[in-house]
Amino acid sequence: MNKIEDVPGVGLATAQKLRAAGFHTLESIAVASGRELAEMAGLTEERAREFSKRAREMLNLNFLTAEELLTRRQNIARLTTGCKSLDDLLGGGVETQGILELIGQYGVGKTQICLALCVFVQQPVEMGGLEGSALYLDTEGTFRPERIIEIARGREIPTETILKNIIVARAFNSDHQVLIAEKLDEIIQEKNIKLVIVDSIISHFRAEYLGRESLPTRQQRLNQHLHKLLRMAEVFNIPVVVTNQVVASPDAFFGPPNKPAGGHILAHLSTNRVFLRKGKRYTRIARIIDSPYLPEGECIFKITEKGVEDVPP
Ligand SMILES: Nc1ncnc2c1ncn2[C@@H]1O[C@H](COP(=O)(O)OP(=O)(O)OP(=O)(O)O)[C@@H](O)[C@H]1O
Ligand SMILES: [Mg+2]
Repeated sequence: MNKIEDVPGVGLATAQKLRAAGFHTLESIAVASGRELAEMAGLTEERAREFSKRAREMLNLNFLTAEELLTRRQNIARLTTGCKSLDDLLGGGVETQGILELIGQYGVGKTQICLALCVFVQQPVEMGGLEGSALYLDTEGTFRPERIIEIARGREIPTETILKNIIVARAFNSDHQVLIAEKLDEIIQEKNIKLVIVDSIISHFRAEYLGRESLPTRQQRLNQHLHKLLRMAEVFNIPVVVTNQVVASPDAFFGPPNKPAGGHILAHLSTNRVFLRKGKRYTRIARIIDSPYLPEGECIFKITEKGVEDVPP
């Protein structure tokens, strides 16, 4: 495996600066924009751009033929949610190389799906897993290890190592959240992380940027944060799952009364978006919204001690 010192022109001192700024791997340098790299590592933009270009060359990231692109897409793997109908809705599970956005009101089950995924990602591929660990970026303090154990027991999955393979990073504000995401590359390789969760992507941003005049700044930062997450999903061939809240849409006279928060940025950068709502009795309904290739559709599921499950007809 190449180290950042192997990039032509990166000496010991530069490597130190890069590491201090959170660029630990060739991949992280290759996918950073020149300006981003320059600002964060204190380099001139010209040098930063050159390093980034060389790292891309070393990783063969520059030009892809459509055939190579197809090969890369054939590497897309799928992670089960533990619920057949939800997996089917997603085209066979949560796919790698993209961002899945779970949208819905409080208590609808976004966190429950994320917790279940942390259990299943550790399972063998033939059981719908990805044979790796999970990283849970928790912005609301709702991660519950006890619930992980309960889901695993409910599925008859051994629990000895289940919690050791979930790394929880608590983000206390949006700066902290962005910083954690910037530093993920190394830990993803080191700990064989096969799933990254950000629950929730938006809450800190919404709480901190109040008022119309701060909206452009918020959206710009959110945009960078999501770009970083998307690149991570692509480079490491893993799924990134983020949760999002809904906001009232007062202009919707006929349409749905709620819409996803985060505006166009999230709509644009999420690979797949699933809108969740409460159904009759204890059921939940999931619906795919504006997907580039998944058919529109809905499914019904329920939250149980086993995580999320199908509702028998
Ligand atoms: N062990 C369990 N068995 C059955 N249902 C459960 C269990 N644990 C939680 N739930 C249900 O899950 C729901 C809470 O879902 P969850 O915390 O995922 O919501 P959320 O969409 O993340 O909401 P928020 O926006 O507030 O974070 C509650 O309705 C609760 O009844
Ligand atoms: Mg939640």
